[in-house]
Amino acid sequence: LHHDRSQPAASPPSCAARSQDELKRVAAHRAVEFVQSGMVLGLGTGSTAAHALDRIGDLLRCGALRDIVGIPTSEWAAARAAAAGIPLSDLNAHPVVDLSIDGADEVDPALNLVKGRGGSLLREKMVEGASRRFVVIVDESKLVPRLGASGLAVPVEVIPFGWALTLRRLRSLFEGMPGFNLKLRTAATDAKANSFDENVFEQEAFVTDNKNYIVDLFFEDGIHGDLNLISDEILRITGVVEHGMFLGLASSVIVARKDGVARKDG
Ligand code: 5RP
Repeated sequence: LHHDRSQPAASPPSCAARSQDELKRVAAHRAVEFVQSGMVLGLGTGSTAAHALDRIGDLLRCGALRDIVGIPTSEWAAARAAAAGIPLSDLNAHPVVDLSIDGADEVDPALNLVKGRGGSLLREKMVEGASRRFVVIVDESKLVPRLGASGLAVPVEVIPFGWALTLRRLRSLFEGMPGFNLKLRTAATDAKANSFDENVFEQEAFVTDNKNYIVDLFFEDGIHGDLNLISDEILRITGVVEHGMFLGLASSVIVARKDGVARKDG
């Protein structure tokens, strides 16, 4: 990642101990600098995107931005944006989005992403895929050498009907990949809790905004192989709605590090 030279590269020493949330805020505020009056904006989901939503709200309130239309990527984003005073619409009314700003769970060196640990991958992929520009905002903890390498979930949204069969088909697809495991996401445990209780009851399933379930895939050492091929194979399983690998979608990634902000353009 190269340093964004439009801003000072290094933070003062007093900022060296910035918390992770402060880093998320720094990345979010930097991304909001790309927002211009009159834009249709894709509004991201999660703790990093929250800072962007709040910042856009502040700029609207003080008159620095005008005529913004927001397309939320989740029910959560819609509520947060409404509370921030951002006017909302949807993809039907605005099929072309000028700029989307959203967080990510993982970013690889080619700017491919894992998203959806918050469960909003389908709407995020629809909105961000319809965007002229998609700016990803992360703190440095999200950088990985290869997708899945954090050891945390790569989510797949599946329809509830026959979910156990869909899960078995996903298991067959990755059979033989070292350290592979998968589970139905439950409401009680988030995607970061990779305990594999076989006695998961369907009543406990996490339900997405689209009334679907999520199967979380775990890879000990990340996903090896051609990601586009793997994406096609996952999507070919009947019952799969979408997966959380965002391949070639990010225009830019803004990374907030303890020693400054870096930006990489795709
Ligand atoms: C939600 C997402 C989020 O963008 C992702 O989980 C990052 O969240 P956070 O900024 O809270 O770390 O994909 O579905």
